[in-house]
Amino acid sequence: MLELNHVSARYNMLTSFVNAVDDVNFKIENNEIFGIAGESGCGKSTLLKVMYDLLDYPLEVSSGTVRLYKGRSETEYVETGKLKEYWWKEISYVPQGAMHVMNPVSRIESQFFDAVSRGNQDKKSRKQLREEIAGYLRELELSPDILRAYPHQLSGGMRQRVLIALATFLSPSVILADEPTTALDVVVQKDILTMLMSVQKRMENSMVIVSHDMGVHYQVTNRMGIMYAGQMIEVGPTDEIFNNPKHPYTQMLIGALPKVGDTSQKEGIPGTPPSLKDPPAGCRFAARCKYATDQCRQVQPQTVQVGDRHYAACLLLGQGTGGNKDGK
Ligand SMILES: Nc1ncnc2c1ncn2[C@@H]1O[C@H](COP(=O)(O)OP(=O)(O)O)[C@@H](O)[C@H]1O
Ligand SMILES: [Mg+2]
Repeated sequence: MLELNHVSARYNMLTSFVNAVDDVNFKIENNEIFGIAGESGCGKSTLLKVMYDLLDYPLEVSSGTVRLYKGRSETEYVETGKLKEYWWKEISYVPQGAMHVMNPVSRIESQFFDAVSRGNQDKKSRKQLREEIAGYLRELELSPDILRAYPHQLSGGMRQRVLIALATFLSPSVILADEPTTALDVVVQKDILTMLMSVQKRMENSMVIVSHDMGVHYQVTNRMGIMYAGQMIEVGPTDEIFNNPKHPYTQMLIGALPKVGDTSQKEGIPGTPPSLKDPPAGCRFAARCKYATDQCRQVQPQTVQVGDRHYAACLLLGQGTGGNKDGK
């Protein structure tokens, strides 16, 4: 579906670079919800922009490629630089905070028309399109009346639902959603997640959900990747990540989650991630890791397989034998 091969990306700040994504490898399968987790600033949004081929200055891909397999084909693909031609129809994107930046002077209906006309090759009449959009909204249990509304007349949760409807109207094979529930209250969050899950179930396509909230991943994703300081340090089935985390950072993330019936004080993760302008030579987590050795501070860990479809990059887990280092 969507495959990343040794992808690195950076913000070009003229006198320096922010290396926000470093050598990331993974593949999104057909018919799955893939989660991307990690602390704020670790590169999740940047990675999603790169996956969507949304490379506006100062963001640039410094190496590697993203492949989008067309029409769920296993052999025919387009790569970074060409994905734009497939926006809306094959791949769509709901940016972080998009519900706050919808065009305030344009009715929801025109926002749909704008988006759809870009992905709609067979020119349909406005009337026919309007009917199709209304029908789709009804399928998603949204009232077609919202088409006449301006964004400010809708609640934050409703705007987010509209954006998801917009992004999925043309049944793309890949849907990317960046922090779709952040800044919404808990009840609305649940509705949005339920909506995303039902869209994915209906379309049987691939969905990528970025969230710093591990609870979101637990509820909706099938597989997930954990990012730390621009790198993907662990990838695996979600139940494996929660029940059998291998990387010390993932273990700390999971350990910090509240559990039912447990009243003990949870420790946060002490320290802060390294600067992405000048990251350390060895493992990027070493400075915060209680298991770190001198070797960890000098050698970059490779990704090794640690279970069924489960990969992690930590020297404690070994340095691999040159087998599958790709974390796919
Ligand atoms: N437009 C930008 N210009 C320069 N640096 C940026 C820009 N956007 C993000 N960054 C930096 O890139 C790094 C990754 O940010 P981001 O991808 O937004 O992380 P996340 O989504 O995980 O919070 C951070 O250090 C952030 O400060
Ligand atoms: Mg972000």
